[in-house]
Amino acid sequence: MRILVVGKGGREHALVRALAESPGNPELFCFPGSDAIFELAKPVAADGLESLIEWMMAHAIDLCVAGEESYLVKGEGLANLCVRHGIPCWGPPKESAQLEASKEFAKEFLVRNGIPTARATATESLAAAVAAIGGKYPTVLKFDGLAAGKGVAVCPDETSAMVFLDEVFTRQRFGPGRVLVEDCLTGPEVSIFAAIVDDRYLIFTPARDYKRALDGDHGPNTGGMGAVASRQLVSKELLERIEEEIVVPTVAGLNREGLPYRGFLYFGLMLTPDGPQVIEYNCRFGDPECQAVMPLVNGDLAGFCLAGANGELRGDLISFDDGWSVCVILASAGYPENSRSGDVIRGLENTGDFRVYHAGTRKNADGIWETNGGRVLAVVSGAAALPEAVAKAHAAADLISFPGLQRRHDIGILHFD
Ligand code: AMP
Ligand code: GLY
Repeated sequence: MRILVVGKGGREHALVRALAESPGNPELFCFPGSDAIFELAKPVAADGLESLIEWMMAHAIDLCVAGEESYLVKGEGLANLCVRHGIPCWGPPKESAQLEASKEFAKEFLVRNGIPTARATATESLAAAVAAIGGKYPTVLKFDGLAAGKGVAVCPDETSAMVFLDEVFTRQRFGPGRVLVEDCLTGPEVSIFAAIVDDRYLIFTPARDYKRALDGDHGPNTGGMGAVASRQLVSKELLERIEEEIVVPTVAGLNREGLPYRGFLYFGLMLTPDGPQVIEYNCRFGDPECQAVMPLVNGDLAGFCLAGANGELRGDLISFDDGWSVCVILASAGYPENSRSGDVIRGLENTGDFRVYHAGTRKNADGIWETNGGRVLAVVSGAAALPEAVAKAHAAADLISFPGLQRRHDIGILHFD
C-alpha cells in the first residue's frame, strides 16, 4: 500500500510513525514533510495542491491522509480533488471542512442540530461587536476563519476585548472576516476524536491539551504545550453522554445536511456544570493530542484509514491501550510570540521507553538536528497509571536540551492532582 500524508508537524510525524508501524509495511510519502518525517516517508516533488494530485496519480498512491487542515479548504479542496481523481482520501471535502474553517458555519450547524454550545452572535464591525458584548464580561471573541489557533480571545474585561477587536477589524491581522461574540463557558476541557465514515463513527482515546505557555496555565495561549490521553480521562457515563448529546447528533447532522465525511473529527468540549458543550470542531486530529494518542493505538491504522476512505468503518482493525500517555512539548526561545531557529538540539541520541516526535526541527549542513520553529519536539511516554506516565515523560524530556528551550513541568500534573 502506498500512502501519502499531508502536513509537516509533530502530529504528522506521529501519524507517519503509526502508519509505518502498521502491518503490511506500507510505503509512505509525505508532503510537505520535514527532515525527521523523511526518515520514515519519502518526500514528494510538488509545489501546490494541483501538482500534488498529479504526483499522486503518477505514483499510484492508494491513500491520501490529511494530517493538517489547510489543504482541505485550499482551492477546490484536497479531498474533493482526490475524490474527483479516484484517490481514496482520509479527510473531509471542503464543504464539510467548513466546520473548522468557519466558526460561524460551525455555530449555525451546532444550533440547527440541537447540539449543546455557547450562545453566540456574528458581528461584522467593531461597533457591532461592542454592541453584542453589551458590557458583559468575561466574553469570548472568535475570528471567523483559519487563524492558526490565534483567532480566539477569552477577554476578562473591556480593555482586552478592545485590543482583540482592534487587531481583527482595524489592523486585519487575520485578513477580512467577521467576529463571533460568544458567551464564556467554564469547566475543564476535553478533546474527543472520532473517526467518521459517512453515518458511522468510532471514538478514539480522549485527550486533554495544555494551551497556555507557562506552568499553572499562565501566560499566553499557544498551539499546545503538552497533552494527556487516556480512556480513563472521562468516565464511562460521561463518555456515553458525550456520545449521545454531541457525537451522534453531529454525525446525523452531517448526513442530513449532505455534508460527506470520512476522516478524523475533533470535538473540543468544555465540561460545564450544565453538561458537555462544544467549543469547536476541527476536521483533523489534534496537535499535540495526536502525539499522545498514537502510542495508545494498536493494530492496523493504515488499513483502518484506507477502509474508512473507501466507506467502510473497520473498528476491528485497531484497538486502544487502557493506560495513560503523556506528551511534553519542548518549544523554542521566543515562542509563542515568535520563535528562534538554528539552536542545536542535544540528547536526541537517547533511547528508552519513550518516543520523540519532531515538530519544528531540521538537520543542518553537518547533519546535526537544530530548532526550526516554535514547537520543536514532543516527548511522549506512557504507563498503566498516570503518575508513572508523568514521571517517565518528564524524565525523558530532561534528556533533551537546546538553547532557549521552554517547556511546562506540570503537564499531566495540573488538573489531575
Ligand atoms: P477554540 O480555538 O475555539 O478552541 O478556542 C480556543 C480556546 O478558547 C479553547 O480551548 C477554550 O479554552 C477557549 N474558549 C473557546 N470558546 C470558549 C467559550 N465559549 N467559553 C470559554 N472559553 C472558551
Ligand atoms: N490541540 C489543539 C488543536 O489541535 O487544535
